Amino acid sequence: MNLEVLFTPAEFAALASRDLSGTVCVVFDVLRATSTIATALHNGAKAVIPVAEISEALELKKSRPDVLLGGERNGVRISTGGIDFDLGNSPREYTPTKVRGKTIVSTTTNGTRALRACAGAKMILAASFLNLGATAEFLRRNKIGLILIVCAGTGENAALEDTLAAGAMCEVVSGGFGGGANAASVKAAQQAYAKAKSNLSGAMRDSENARRLLANPDLRDDVALCLQRDTCWLVARMKTDGVIQCV
Ligand code: MLT
Repeated sequence: MNLEVLFTPAEFAALASRDLSGTVCVVFDVLRATSTIATALHNGAKAVIPVAEISEALELKKSRPDVLLGGERNGVRISTGGIDFDLGNSPREYTPTKVRGKTIVSTTTNGTRALRACAGAKMILAASFLNLGATAEFLRRNKIGLILIVCAGTGENAALEDTLAAGAMCEVVSGGFGGGANAASVKAAQQAYAKAKSNLSGAMRDSENARRLLANPDLRDDVALCLQRDTCWLVARMKTDGVIQCV
């Protein structure tokens, strides 16, 4: 298989025993981790370092007081033991004024887990609708032969918005793979996207993540923002040291 999609976090466990040394993993967490990473880099952040636990973020801050702390638990900015994180996980917070030149240590629920599940891959890219075109162009230009699209999902389940973004990516890149070599998951994602693409916001009625954000007046605008296509022309790569920067 040259192109394949993983839809649910339940599939991450199998990645540990898989040889990914020749594979480029493209991780989507549309609502909102990878959209926020793309926005932060677009607005001049030097790097984003995703960490699994709040305690890891706090440790890093001790050794590097210059970093900003970002992320969410239950969708909202983290406040713990008297420490308020500088940023939540809304891409709208990551303005040039706040992030230019900064390194952001970020801990989110599913996004971080998906990025970390790809450890051992030849390359790990953080993608979203916002930087989909640039990421697809990068894959094409570098003649990447093995691509695994990893959807971060919601909890243990598939997330519709990630599935649709995976389908959009497959639509752009699958031509280069001569069709026959693609996994059935590629066709499933592509068909879902083809059906939804004329009204992506309408499709969000069936997204658990979108419904949660839309119900919160402070976060509802994130949904429309994260569905915008190609507003950030950049490729976000997580290197082996776990740091995400523009390629
Ligand atoms: C996650 O990583 O689970 C998220 O992106 C959740 C969110 O930002 O609401």
